[in-house]
Amino acid sequence: MATTDIPEGTIRNILDQDTLKWVFVGGKGGVGKTTCSSILSILLAQVRSSVLIISTDPAHNLSDAFQQRFTKAPTLVNGFSNLYAMEVDPNVEHDDIGGNEGMDGLFSELANAIPGIDEAMSFAEMLKLVQTMDYSCIVFDTAPTGHTLRLLQFPSTLEKGLQKMMSLKSKFGGLISQMTRLFGIDDEYGEDAILGRLEGMKDVIEQVNKQFKDPDLTTFVCVCIPEFLSLYETERLVQELTKFEIDTHNIIINQVLYDEEDVESKLLRARMRMQQKYLDQFYMLYDDFNITKLPLLPQEVTGVEALKAFSSNFLSPYQPSTSRGTVEDLERKISTLKLQLEYAEAELDRLRKGKQKV
Ligand SMILES: Nc1ncnc2c1ncn2[C@@H]1O[C@H](COP(=O)(O)OP(=O)(O)OP(=O)(O)O)[C@@H](O)[C@H]1O
Ligand SMILES: [Mg+2]
Repeated sequence: MATTDIPEGTIRNILDQDTLKWVFVGGKGGVGKTTCSSILSILLAQVRSSVLIISTDPAHNLSDAFQQRFTKAPTLVNGFSNLYAMEVDPNVEHDDIGGNEGMDGLFSELANAIPGIDEAMSFAEMLKLVQTMDYSCIVFDTAPTGHTLRLLQFPSTLEKGLQKMMSLKSKFGGLISQMTRLFGIDDEYGEDAILGRLEGMKDVIEQVNKQFKDPDLTTFVCVCIPEFLSLYETERLVQELTKFEIDTHNIIINQVLYDEEDVESKLLRARMRMQQKYLDQFYMLYDDFNITKLPLLPQEVTGVEALKAFSSNFLSPYQPSTSRGTVEDLERKISTLKLQLEYAEAELDRLRKGKQKV
């Protein structure tokens, strides 16, 4: 089957699915996760009342993409009235959990005993906080693949941690509390406090676990490039997501070289052929996914204007210059413009309604 017979996907399905609450964006390093999640959040902000984009990558780059400094508190993105961004570091949030040296000591002991528990705790704390903030949709710009998968395991890691603590408590009875007293840790930060904390988290964990596994509420967008390693890693990611019962039905293939009229370079032509081979494989492997292809630009995609301009490729397939000016091309352009108008009108409507309330 020729590639042209296959309907070109877009990410419109995500904008149309108005029940979605959590949108994860992940993939291999450097493929365009931050760019794609930023654009998704911009597009979602046009159709939703409020959107938050969170970076969970310790090497934060939302600030680079939007060219604005962000912190671990949600900050309004310049030029928007309903799009917020925050950058959290899953590794260094210990102070949020105890704020006391004794607690920290005991906590890191615990963290050593249950791998990933500290990260999981801070992730759960963050989700708890975010849930109280009442955003209509939350987009995650995740760190490269391995890290993302760990993040999705957090709810079960926490549950295991809680069980382990409970069994320790029943086994050793008062020994732990004696020790904490011995080391001068007052009750407020002792073993009961940690247990209480973990238990308090249980509801959040259970709730989040349920939400992440509900395809009406959560979806995972895989970003990749048409190369062997990325194809391989995407397959691994999709399999892991299936194992965790997390919905995924969108793949964004970024940095695609198109057969533009002006491509004369032998190198580029050779790479185009290589890309085509992997593109065909993507379409074959993921025939039930929405596959969105994005062109490789000569320049980076940074700043709100560049992100907005690039977002048109998320709503209708990019057309290389060779097919420009044809009837089909104009028809496509008109349908994109209509769609953009529709979204702009929805946004205007939403803004007007918001103003009336004030
Ligand atoms: N289609 C594209 N054409 C040109 N430049 C692009 C394209 N997509 C992304 N870029 C640029 O490539 C760089 C890497 O993109 P981005 O930061 O989105 O990737 P990432 O997957 O988030 O990387 P990391 O794994 O380091 O977080 C950025 O400078 C971005 O502006
Ligand atoms: Mg990134």
